Formats: sequence, C-alpha cells, structure tokens
Amino acid sequence: MYKIVTKTQLAPKIMLFEVEAPDIAAKAQAGQFLIVIHGKAGERIPLTICGYDRTKGTVSFAFHEVGKTTKGLSCLDQGESIDNVTGPLGNPSEVKNFGKVLCVGGSVMIAPLLLQVKAMKEAGNNVTTILGARTPEFVMMQQEAKDMSDKLYLATDDGTLGYQGLDFLTDMLKKEKFDRCVVMGPVILMKDVSEITKPYCIPTIVTLTPIMIDGMGMCGVCRVTVDGKMLFGCVDGPEFDGHKTDFDELIIRQRTMLPEERLSSLLWEMNGGCKCGRSKA
Ligand SMILES: Cc1cc2nc3c(=O)[nH]c(=O)nc-3n(C[C@H](O)[C@H](O)[C@H](O)COP(=O)(O)OP(=O)(O)OC[C@H]3O[C@@H](n4cnc5c(N)ncnc54)[C@H](O)[C@@H]3O)c2cc1C
Ligand code: FES
Repeated sequence: MYKIVTKTQLAPKIMLFEVEAPDIAAKAQAGQFLIVIHGKAGERIPLTICGYDRTKGTVSFAFHEVGKTTKGLSCLDQGESIDNVTGPLGNPSEVKNFGKVLCVGGSVMIAPLLLQVKAMKEAGNNVTTILGARTPEFVMMQQEAKDMSDKLYLATDDGTLGYQGLDFLTDMLKKEKFDRCVVMGPVILMKDVSEITKPYCIPTIVTLTPIMIDGMGMCGVCRVTVDGKMLFGCVDGPEFDGHKTDFDELIIRQRTMLPEERLSSLLWEMNGGCKCGRSKA
C-alpha cells in the first residue's frame, strides 16, 4: 500500500498527490512515469512523475479527473493509501546544458513539466517557460514556474489570461533563438508547438500519452509512429522527437476505447461513485 502524504488541489478537478514510495523515490527522474492501480480490481493508469524526495521517500504525481479511475483516486484523502504504484517506468528526460531551453506545458501536464524546468535550470540552462490552458483556472502553478524560470509567459485559448493561443510563440521565435524545446500537454498542443518550432530547426521533445496497459513493453497497446517506425510509448519513450511524431495517428488511437471509457465512468457514477460524493463536484 502506498500512503498519501499530501493531497493538494491544483485546479478544478486536478489533484496533486505525494505518496510514500521509497523504492521509487530512490530512482525517479524527470520524464519518467508511474503505473497507479486504485482498488482491488482497478485498471492500471500511467501518470507522469512530477516530483520526488529521496530523503522522505516520496514521489508525486498530478492527475485530471477524466474517468472512472482518476475520479476514484481523487476521492482518497491524505493518510489513506493507494493499492499499487509501480515505477519509475520509461526513459528519463535528456537533461544537460543545451543553452537556451523553451519549456511549454498545458493543463495537468504543467505539473510534470515543472520538474523538467527545475532539472534544466539546475543543468545550467536559460529557461523560458510557457504555461497554457483552455481557461485561466487551469493555468496552474504560476508562482512555482516564475520562481524556476528566467522568463514566464502565460496563454489561454480564450485570451482571458496572458496571450490568446500560440501566435505569440511564432512571433517570439522570429526574434529569439532556442537550442531545445520541451512540450508536455494535450496532443494537440504538442502537435501545434512542434509545427511552430520545425521551421526554426529547434529540437522539440514531446511526451506521448498513448493508452497503456503494462507500461513495460509487453502488451503492444502503446504503439506510436515516430520517423516512420513503430515504437512503444512505454519503453521507447515516453519522450520522442516532436518533428517526427505521427500525432494524428496518436489522436485516433487514444480515442479507440472512448465508448467503453464513457460507459465505465457512467456506471461508476450510477453506482454511487466512491460514496464520498466529492467525485460529483
Ligand atoms: C506515459 C503517460 C503519462 C501520463 N501522465 C499523466 C499525468 O501526469 N496526469 C494525467 O492526468 N494524465 C496522464 N496521462 C493520461 C492518464 O493515464 C489518463 O488520463 C488515465 O488513464 C485516465 O484513466 P480514467 O480511468 O480516469 O479515465 P478513462 O475512462 O480511461 O478515460 C477518460 C478520458 O480520458 C481519455 N484518456 C484515457 N487515456 C488517456 C491517455 N493515455 N492520454 C490522454 N487521454 C486519455 C479518454 O480518451 C477519455 O476521454 C498519462 C498517460 C500516459 C500514457
Ligand atoms: S503499455 Fe504495453 S507495451 Fe507499452
């Protein structure tokens, strides 16, 4: 069992858990992920590591309540335990002194992006961070990002906070040179940023989130196409070259189980959810 040491709400329906997992904390690195199982017959869901404390023996992850498992997880309180947390899985991010690094994070993935921002800063890079989301309340962890970054820009789809959309990024790249770009967020954000950075030849690293089962290279569910080759998101990634990724295929594959996911969430709600009622907030 993995005890929840702290539970923090970062945004509406976005939670940050810090859990006791000394073996994972001892090895965790930025860019890696965990497989979390909630409930005795629970499904395995991959969540990206967004912090670790080797002294306390804890590891952190943030999740958006989108379906049955994430809604159930959010009902757990500080002091309660999660049935299983496996990790660290996947390859760590490549972190070294690249020079000038642009880090772009969207919505729930802002939390793990900030672990990369911290690592890139500690490696001696000059870091510009862009945080974006549909609406202002999802542009979370602004103060932490400001403290860690040399420059911080905010953007929302509706323009009610910071820039509207990503047009400003195109203007920025006309004036400023970057040696590397790291993007974590919805697939469409990773696709758009990769298209914007490509003409400027800025190596762009994206974290792909295909549906996964084992997370260890055995089931083949997490297939992605990068540079025309079929690769496994879990063991070959989760980070890949954004200029060579087939994002459209990833979007289609991510939607494969949508009817079942909707049904499972609906049945869970109809059966009273986790009984605490918070999941329906
Ligand atoms: C390597 C990796 C790292 C991830 N890191 C995070 C993270 O740090 N925080 C976080 O909130 N989520 C992350 N995800 C996505 C997360 O695993 C899914 O949101 C989760 O499995 C949903 O489970 P559920 O039962 O609550 O919802 P489900 O019923 O499984 O799905 C509900 C909705 O979420 C969508 N969904 C399901 N799986 C994925 C997926 N893999 N990617 C995107 N959308 C999905 C479905 O299309 C559906 O619309 C990651 C995925 C991968 C593969
Ligand atoms: S999740 Fe099974 S091979 Fe990647």
